[in-house]
Amino acid sequence: MLSWDDLEQPSQPKKSTEPRPAPDTLQQEVREPGTSYGAHSAEKSHSAPASPAAQSTVSKPASDAVEAARAAVADMDPAPGLEELEMGAARIEVDEKRIINCRADLNQLVPFKYDWAWQKYLDGCANHWMPQEVNMNKDVSMWKDPEGLTEDERRIVEYSLGYFSTADSLVANNLVLAIYRHITNPECRQYLLRQSFEEAIHTHAYQYCVESLGMDEGEVFNMYREVPSVAKKAAWSLKHTQSIGDPNFKTGTPETDQELLRNLIAFYAVTEGIFFYCGFTQILSMGRRNKMTGVAEQFQYILRDESMHLNFGIDVINQIKLENPHLWTPEFQQEVAQMILEGMELEVAYARDTMPRGVLGMNANMMEEYLHFIANRRLSQLGLKEQFPGAQNPFPWMSEIMDLRKEKNFFETRVIEYQTGGALQW
Ligand SMILES: [Fe+2]
Ligand SMILES: [Fe+2]
Repeated sequence: MLSWDDLEQPSQPKKSTEPRPAPDTLQQEVREPGTSYGAHSAEKSHSAPASPAAQSTVSKPASDAVEAARAAVADMDPAPGLEELEMGAARIEVDEKRIINCRADLNQLVPFKYDWAWQKYLDGCANHWMPQEVNMNKDVSMWKDPEGLTEDERRIVEYSLGYFSTADSLVANNLVLAIYRHITNPECRQYLLRQSFEEAIHTHAYQYCVESLGMDEGEVFNMYREVPSVAKKAAWSLKHTQSIGDPNFKTGTPETDQELLRNLIAFYAVTEGIFFYCGFTQILSMGRRNKMTGVAEQFQYILRDESMHLNFGIDVINQIKLENPHLWTPEFQQEVAQMILEGMELEVAYARDTMPRGVLGMNANMMEEYLHFIANRRLSQLGLKEQFPGAQNPFPWMSEIMDLRKEKNFFETRVIEYQTGGALQW
């Protein structure tokens, strides 16, 4: 077994776990670089001589580069790293684990403290899918047929792909460049890594739709900078990633811990929990009417992933509140409630922009009612008072898609083919 002492004595390789020549062979090799390994082996064990190539490699004196590597390993300090590694420290107790500002070893996944985080990681893996598995042929014909969709329906497809094609990149960048290093819990980080890959798949799915339909990529991917109702949503999210993404940002004070909470609320509860809902509802409504069924199926898979991202984020935020009650002041609660309401207002503006008239059995007023219902839900999930008493859900089928088992023939496609691990149950 390798002991830490070996790291300071590289000339005693006999305790290494790697298969290597017998100790005396190796020592001779180090002490006598001019001696041929093949000749040495034959002398000791009568085995077949090494190939000429092997002989020439081993018989050369150690190069400066090899000597430099040996010296570096000999002088290596096993303690430093991205995360602090405390040599000889007591083993991790589960009670030491915390979501933020945790000093326990972050490189060890177990023992689990937050089983919900690990379970979500497993559920995410069980729901794996890839965009190119969805058949887009019918969508391509419908998109290219001048009679296939109305102008209002085409606008919805363009705006949805315009917003989402960049929004999922914003979310992924926030996860990897801002949130990850401040979440000091390995099982939550495991989920963040899974979520990051899912966000990459979502961006891939939007790009795949844009490419399949032959849309103007420049126009679609720049909507988040050029179309006001899309740009405002993206700008609102980006505003909340700036300070956390600063390499000098550190949690550990009430102010910085609250700033991290703002980021988590802005991305999980608002961006993924409100900003996605108008576009998802519109595209899924289209699929229910047998229009753009491939795009709708992509969105359905994405929505299933997103509802898990949202639930994970809400669990993380509430666990941080539980472990750090001093952060959840009345002033901060008021600020968080306002963030939810700002998100809802931006989404209502997007609904009005994308639905100047009734389309697909819905209109902007119905969407506003739905967004009041969603805002109430986000507020209560965070332990805050609902702001729209009695708001109803005009699209109960959205809840069915998110909360219930997927109907196998929802879009009359063979969903079973897209399963990996046999787990399309949600
Ligand atoms: Fe996503
Ligand atoms: Fe997401």
